[in-house]
Amino acid sequence: MTAPSQPASPPQEGQQPLLALDKLSLGFGGLRALADLDLQVRDREIVSMIGPNGAGKSTVFNVITGIYRPTAGDVRFAGGSIVGRPPHIIARHGIARTFQSLRLFMNMSVLENVLAATYGSTRASPVESVLRLPRHRREERQNRVLAHDILAFFGQRLAGYRWDQPAYSLSYANRRRLEIARALATKPKLLLLDEPAAGMNPTETHEITELIGRLRDELDLTILVIEHDMHVVAGCSDRVLALDHGVKIAEGGFDTVASHPAVVEAYLGRDPEALAAEPGGPGGSPTQGGTKDR
Ligand SMILES: Nc1ncnc2c1ncn2[C@@H]1O[C@H](COP(=O)(O)OP(=O)(O)O)[C@@H](O)[C@H]1O
Ligand SMILES: [Mg+2]
Repeated sequence: MTAPSQPASPPQEGQQPLLALDKLSLGFGGLRALADLDLQVRDREIVSMIGPNGAGKSTVFNVITGIYRPTAGDVRFAGGSIVGRPPHIIARHGIARTFQSLRLFMNMSVLENVLAATYGSTRASPVESVLRLPRHRREERQNRVLAHDILAFFGQRLAGYRWDQPAYSLSYANRRRLEIARALATKPKLLLLDEPAAGMNPTETHEITELIGRLRDELDLTILVIEHDMHVVAGCSDRVLALDHGVKIAEGGFDTVASHPAVVEAYLGRDPEALAAEPGGPGGSPTQGGTKDR
């Protein structure tokens, strides 16, 4: 099992978590999407969420980012409740996410995609922008520097000549990288990654695992990641949370959670063919997991 390069410091007595979900519940009509979900994520921790399709993982992200309002429970970020705040305000608090289905501007260049994501945090008024007053011009310069720095973080993958290419010309893996770059452009403290390795080959999957570690080690980010690929989960997580039918069925280290009987059963019960095709399943050696709803 690959250990994260620099695990977060162990929990300190009285240390406040950066993110706390407190008895979160959400129903869609008769469907229980989340039930009494508790989760605490500390500063600079990498926590993975696993579970079969439909378990409620993306719904957790939608509640944290203000897209869905929970039926009950609380979401606290840096000590304050953020439930009921609109998504753009939550983003300004320092929470950014990527989507399971990518949301890039396909006809815009790589650089423009990242620049567009920086504008949510600009302070210049529309009048200042239209008249290109000093504050607007200063912010535009700063955003360019920021976008360049962010793209440089991805090394050769999003480097140089690729900046001016339209997003549609990128490989699928590079589109996923660009989606992460856009999330970084809002200067988050907490990054939510929804299936970052979906559709990637083993080499790309290995790279994304390393990238997640670097995002924490070099950019001091706290990361909550939804992932089906057990190589990624094993390789980057300080802690793993397993969900099924909106309920937490296990939480702890990768080995403990992946071999937990409730987790094995959740995968077996739902997708026996996929499990048979992947010796070891979620409980054995890391496997190249699949997701049905890319
Ligand atoms: N907007 C919605 N309206 C109705 N049902 C939804 C909505 N969003 C999610 N669901 C349902 O909630 C459950 C959890 O979905 P989701 O969080 O996307 O699962 P996961 O990401 O774990 O695959 C599923 O049964 C899904 O169909
Ligand atoms: Mg999902």
